[in-house]
Amino acid sequence: MNRPFLDSFGRAVTYLRASVTDRCDMRCLYCMAEEMTFLPKPEILSFDELERICGAFIHNGVRRLRITGGEPLVRRDVMSFFAAMGEWLKRPQDEAHLDELTLTTNGSRLGEFAEPLYAAGVRRINVSMDSLDAERFRTITRRGKLEKTLDGIRAARKAGLKIRINTVAMAGLNDDEFDDMVAWCGQIGADLCLIETMPMGETGDDRQNRYLPLDRVRADLQRRWTLEPLTYRTGGPARYARVAETGQKIGFITPMSHNFCESCNRVRLSCTGQLYSCLGHEGASDLRGPLRAGMDDAGIIRLVQSAIRRKPKGHDFMLDRPADDPARIARHMSVTGG
Ligand code: GTP
Ligand code: 5AD
Ligand code: SF4
Repeated sequence: MNRPFLDSFGRAVTYLRASVTDRCDMRCLYCMAEEMTFLPKPEILSFDELERICGAFIHNGVRRLRITGGEPLVRRDVMSFFAAMGEWLKRPQDEAHLDELTLTTNGSRLGEFAEPLYAAGVRRINVSMDSLDAERFRTITRRGKLEKTLDGIRAARKAGLKIRINTVAMAGLNDDEFDDMVAWCGQIGADLCLIETMPMGETGDDRQNRYLPLDRVRADLQRRWTLEPLTYRTGGPARYARVAETGQKIGFITPMSHNFCESCNRVRLSCTGQLYSCLGHEGASDLRGPLRAGMDDAGIIRLVQSAIRRKPKGHDFMLDRPADDPARIARHMSVTGG
């Protein structure tokens, strides 16, 4: 095997998030604008191109691959890509292999895809769901239907997938629902993960006033629930506790109040083949151009190595950056899937 990717702070990159589309059938207030212009198909990496790039990462020590979007399940024939990537799970004895293949989804298409995902080797998925109230769900997602996501979650449970519900905590939108979410997740046997909103791209919503520090949310939850801190980690940024009353885990992702950059193990590939070494920076390295110009795997690996060596120490998200501040992130979360 080639040498694992290391950045200049000694962090090993063992986790790749690959976005397979910028499209989505929802328009969540914190993620997309109401009207989005989506990319023309030739701009998007083909599955062959994605397989080559992901393969190069796996040969250099990436062990977890999370497929993101937009909404990954809206891309035509995406199951063939999952099946191809699932092959890397079948050879744990080989140096180049995957320990985990997973995805983050809004759940709307899980009814159709839960079983094929399981068949491809996916065992654990994260489903974004910010409210249990149909009208609010509609307000937050602008065009999603709660019932469809709930059907998807039912199908995923039936297929044997372990589920984590991702809930972005938003003042004035869902901040009175977290107790209910904990209870509901307990009933369906899912973990819950609360997330602080990050300022990426203009979405037409006032994220500054929506921001809720999760320390406060956690303190509120502890009035009703016993949260036992856990050392359990998934390789992601969430810090978990066990909810003693339900037996399920609750995670907290706190990029704004307590960043977790020092233990960052990941990079992101956008659906157009841009490699972002940090979610919170605009800097990216183009892999698509060289790939389409015929660069071989060794060349791609050298490009990735050089990008990772330049991985910044951490993000500098701030909710109140003025519009003309160059450190403001213009790209939408949907471009790299978070
Ligand atoms: P697990 O593998 O289950 O731990 O997944 P995850 O939490 O890494 O992934 P998911 O796609 O569910 O993302 C949940 C939230 O974490 C989203 O809001 C992401 O934007 C955010 N997130 C994931 N990775 C990073 C990161 O490296 N930095 C920051 N700031 N946020 C991240
Ligand atoms: N801040 C925090 N989380 C976000 N997500 C999308 N946009 C944002 C944002 N601005 C979350 C989604 C999904 C995950 C990929 O990222 O809810 O669960
Ligand atoms: Fe779509 Fe997910 Fe973004 Fe919502 S958060 S608009 S479901 S990509």
